[in-house]
Amino acid sequence: MIHQISLVCFCVVNIFMFFGDAGAKVPAVIVFGDSTVDAGNNNYIKTLAKSNYLPYGRDFPGGKPTGRFCNGRLVTDFISEAFGLKQTIPAYLDPAYGIEDFATGVAFASAATGYDNLTSNVLSVIPMWKELEYFKEYEKKLFRFMGKNNAKNMLREALYLISAGTNDFIENYYIIPAGRRTQFTVEEYSNYLVGNSESFIREIYNLGARKISLAGLPPIGCIPILRSLNIKGGGACRADCNKLARDFGRKLIALTAKLNKELTGIKILFLNVYNPALHVINNPHAYGIENVATACCYLCNRDSPFTCMDANTYAFWDAVHPTEKLYHIVADHLMKTTLAELV
Ligand SMILES: *[C@@H]1O[C@H](CO)[C@@H](O)[C@H](O)[C@H]1NC(C)=O
Repeated sequence: MIHQISLVCFCVVNIFMFFGDAGAKVPAVIVFGDSTVDAGNNNYIKTLAKSNYLPYGRDFPGGKPTGRFCNGRLVTDFISEAFGLKQTIPAYLDPAYGIEDFATGVAFASAATGYDNLTSNVLSVIPMWKELEYFKEYEKKLFRFMGKNNAKNMLREALYLISAGTNDFIENYYIIPAGRRTQFTVEEYSNYLVGNSESFIREIYNLGARKISLAGLPPIGCIPILRSLNIKGGGACRADCNKLARDFGRKLIALTAKLNKELTGIKILFLNVYNPALHVINNPHAYGIENVATACCYLCNRDSPFTCMDANTYAFWDAVHPTEKLYHIVADHLMKTTLAELV
């Protein structure tokens, strides 16, 4: 009898804790940035930076291409699921979704964008300032949908995730001949981008964001396109590009420390995606991965005859972007480390 009573009490307490917790934790994941986190916004703008065709998305639920630059889901989708929210975060511009869907997570990200306005111009994609404009529009819709107070609470407790910077360096700084290289040293350009990142964070803070996660750069020297062009280096990762990614990450860490001190009530977490991704690249077999040097679908399109059979044995899906497998590993790592305190 005593056992039964204590069991009942135990269950009641657990249920209470479960529901009590649910309200206080992360009610939505709100995403800004580039192709690492774009869930398909570029499908609805005029640009060449699109991936809404097979075999992109072939391992996504339903096997459909969504505009994610991946065979399946992205880090942000796995993070959303880990917080008990949706399995996939919808793109804000996708007319198939409405404010009732976006209320628990939304992506404003646009592939090929960057912290620098000129980067988004290269392929005519959505600049970061415009992502912010969409966010303001979203806030207004949210006020109407759930009432101003509820919406403000939700926006305060939500997790914001920002992932950008790769295109600024690779596309705008290194590839475009008349790009930023003619105006800035790498060091100056890094500082310029970090300054833009800071302004962006201050803007979303002023709009009510408090839990912000800022992703660093992945080991960009290891993306297949840079490896395949590294003929002198025997196809190895480009050490200089990886160093650039680490240096940029250190500047973002300093930025998060500064803003955590200065802005009342803010919690900014730096997401180190570099270390877990490089660990996979250096120890693929520990993760069941066979191939880290080349992509499953190198110049990825419908007619590409060389697409691999099983993307789960690859770290990279196309010449630039990771597979769902690598994204899943990185998301699991982040949930166990930096993001654990929000669960
Ligand atoms: C980018 O462009 C927008 C719109 O013209 C402008 O408001 C913003 O200040 C620009 N950002 C930077 C860092 O130049």
